[in-house]
Amino acid sequence: MFNKLKILAAKSAIKYIKNNNIIGIGSGTTISHFIDILFTKKKNIKGIVSASKSSTKKLKKYKFNIYQINKIKKIGIYFDSADEINKKMQMIKGGGAALTNEKIISSVSDIFICIIDESKYVKNLGILHPVPVEIIPLAEKFIIRKLLHIGAIAKRRINTITEHGNIILDVYKLNLHEPMKIEKYINNIPGVITVGLFTQRCADIVIISKNNQTISIINKKN
Ligand code: 5RP
Repeated sequence: MFNKLKILAAKSAIKYIKNNNIIGIGSGTTISHFIDILFTKKKNIKGIVSASKSSTKKLKKYKFNIYQINKIKKIGIYFDSADEINKKMQMIKGGGAALTNEKIISSVSDIFICIIDESKYVKNLGILHPVPVEIIPLAEKFIIRKLLHIGAIAKRRINTITEHGNIILDVYKLNLHEPMKIEKYINNIPGVITVGLFTQRCADIVIISKNNQTISIINKKN
């Protein structure tokens, strides 16, 4: 069921590909479906900056040009999903541990299009999912204490080493009534690489597939 909805949302996102541009691509199962569909628009895409090895592998299979983020000053559109998104277009991301690259690439992009099924569109962030945080391993215990200080419980994600050689803490019980404050607090802890709260680089457009097979599109500009 979820896969069907992910495909439905991904199909709807494809219409935003127009010119011969460089686009950004995130990571995860929704994006994997999106790449399969993107193939049909190959002639409209000059190249792609990809957020993970798994997305890159699939893109290479379809023979897309892959660009390194360091060589690109600006990306037109970044396509990705999220674990949760609220009506302010703030997100929790990082279920697939690619949050650092996702935050960098989305920050270089003019427009962030978030592709989700309706289960991910939430009133309050953090009820369904923990917040992932990529950290340098030697700071683990210190960071766990700093998170405990604000009432949160952090658990190391098992069997997970990021593409940057770091570990992920999944953080539960965060008070996310003011998620921007929490993003800043966690970002400021020494040893933190990236927090999977996207409250400063929010999405611009959200494409939501619904259980009744319809699509709803929310555009920040409207
Ligand atoms: C990966 C992400 C993904 O976008 C998020 O976890 C959603 O994944 P999926 O499309 O598999 O549900 O942030 O780091």
